[in-house]
Amino acid sequence: MSALDFTQTSTTRRVGDDERAQILADPGFGQHYTDFMAHARWTAEGGWGAAEVIPFGPLQLSPAAAVLHYGQEIFEGLKAFRHADGSVWTFRPEANGERLQRSARRLALPELPIEDFLASLAAVTVADEPWVPEATSEESLYLRPFMFASEEFLGVRASRTVDYYVIASPAGPYFPRGVQPLIVWITDEYARAGAGGTGAAKCGGNYASSLLGKNEAAEHGADEVLFLDSETHTSIDELSGMNVFAITRDGRLLTPALTGSILEGVTRHSILRLAQDRGLEVAEQRLVMSEVLEQVSSGEITEMFACGTAAVINPIGEFRAHGGSWTVGEGGSGEITLALRKELTDIQYGRIPDRHGWLTRLV
Ligand code: COI
Repeated sequence: MSALDFTQTSTTRRVGDDERAQILADPGFGQHYTDFMAHARWTAEGGWGAAEVIPFGPLQLSPAAAVLHYGQEIFEGLKAFRHADGSVWTFRPEANGERLQRSARRLALPELPIEDFLASLAAVTVADEPWVPEATSEESLYLRPFMFASEEFLGVRASRTVDYYVIASPAGPYFPRGVQPLIVWITDEYARAGAGGTGAAKCGGNYASSLLGKNEAAEHGADEVLFLDSETHTSIDELSGMNVFAITRDGRLLTPALTGSILEGVTRHSILRLAQDRGLEVAEQRLVMSEVLEQVSSGEITEMFACGTAAVINPIGEFRAHGGSWTVGEGGSGEITLALRKELTDIQYGRIPDRHGWLTRLV
């Protein structure tokens, strides 16, 4: 039982039925927002409280709020999926709740109890149920919980007031071109995270530090940027917001080990399980970029893909760098990549049995 009771303060919808239907017909990613949001506040004196579901809208924040100056902020990403019987489910929310707690510890923010995290997701989804796309599509309602330092104080120390919100956004494919092979730029200029830093936390600063790399990628006609480790600049870390996998000709699935500088992706972990289930040998290890590119060129690596909650599983068709370009496999979407993607989404949308018990019903 959740200690926080996310009571809805108003039932007046912000968006009319016709406009909502129009948005749901082609939501894109991260462009439209629902009618409501969940909120709770933490204070050093009173702990968590003030839980409510309120109309989605602008926040009132002091210009001296600590988050605006020192970036004390963390977030999560999950999806709510409509099943054929009309029910709505989310995927491994406890894993996201636990990661939010780990991120909170790293950013000196208060931990939100898992049951309160789950209650906040359910409260928003119940209030915004009409925003969950139909079961016929591969669309979902993207849930974005986030927490930030709201104390009006300019000294550098952990905030004594913290606000937590969950907003929701109907979502189609993360990439505008849909599930098409990505062109990935390997940056030799920027790194995403360093040893002892915040690389494993889901905090806004990691994403802010990826933006120049993304710009550099776009300048070279690429969709995404790949960061190498900051110390030796030789091994693969991750993309701007996705983990990376390679599949070898002899059926091994490889992904960078969790060294503390990459995000412990829930999708990443689920893929490792699904791959093991289908008899692939999986290895979490150091992946040296130059060796990976050699193996891509020789055909030893046949498929590569990126994964995350928002992007699901997206094939990588080509790498580009200052030294040249490398086509992965035939440059298209690999067979195993697409099979893993289908299996994961079939579980999420309730089209096949949830044998790992990964789904939680929200509505
Ligand atoms: C997610 O996949 O949910 C994320 O938070 C990553 C972001 C690039 C959208």
